[in-house]
Amino acid sequence: MPPTLRTTDLRREFGSITALDGVDLSLGDGEILGVAGPNGSGKTTLIRCLLGLLRPTAGEATVDGTPTEALAAADRRHIGYMPQARAIYDDLTVRENVAFFASLYGVGDDAVDRALSFVDLADRASARIGELSGGMVRRTSLACALVHDPEILFLDEPTVGLDPKLRASMWDGFRQRRNDGALVVVSTHYLGEVSRCDRVLFLREGRVLALDSPEGFLDRTDTRDLEMAFLALLENAPPARGESSPAGGEESR
Ligand SMILES: Nc1ncnc2c1ncn2[C@@H]1O[C@H](COP(=O)(O)OP(=O)(O)OP(=O)(O)O)[C@@H](O)[C@H]1O
Ligand SMILES: [Mg+2]
Repeated sequence: MPPTLRTTDLRREFGSITALDGVDLSLGDGEILGVAGPNGSGKTTLIRCLLGLLRPTAGEATVDGTPTEALAAADRRHIGYMPQARAIYDDLTVRENVAFFASLYGVGDDAVDRALSFVDLADRASARIGELSGGMVRRTSLACALVHDPEILFLDEPTVGLDPKLRASMWDGFRQRRNDGALVVVSTHYLGEVSRCDRVLFLREGRVLALDSPEGFLDRTDTRDLEMAFLALLENAPPARGESSPAGGEESR
């Protein structure tokens, strides 16, 4: 049974920057949640708050009722994270990197083999990271994030730089994880691929602009593809912070 992840009026500020401005969210039951939105809209900050790596300025993020920053080490073992920035060791081989993460989680060589096949890198396992193409580096990071078969998987732009065929096979893999009961949270800029999510959270300036199924987005905007749907939503949305409003300005909160 996957844990329930919840945020309540989640806020996170960095000095004068408001990265998350009151996000309410409830996730569980094994689903793929896509997180979309422009650069700087708060996707990475949301994922890091959900992981417990960042403490909210106000509000909370919880896993089965426990604030994520207070999760015990044993609970963290059920979580996998692929950060947006590179977080593997250049002087190790592909296999050594994945094996290192496997050892942190107490899983064995079988799991390393499975993770390497999952990202289609079994035949490059003995290559050093510095010898790999950019896409292969991303795939190694992904293998490190899921080697322990986590119940919740956070992937921050996992498919950046991958060719379309590999992107498609990664999404098959995410769906397989979801079908096995995992909760998968994936941020992406490729609006074409969010159609493969169960629900999509669209952020703008730290706020939820919309949260719906891909079909729901198409219905409500009367468009045929998600890129057009998101553009239509942005055009019809109330003005963001700092934009002037024809109605005389947004109420401040
Ligand atoms: N550690 C930090 N210190 C200061 N400001 C930060 C920090 N992390 C994020 N921010 C700011 O918070 C806002 C949201 O950033 P975030 O990284 O969450 O956006 P994002 O949606 O992931 O963007 P991208 O699509 O570029 O990855 C931005 O204005 C960013 O500059
Ligand atoms: Mg980001």
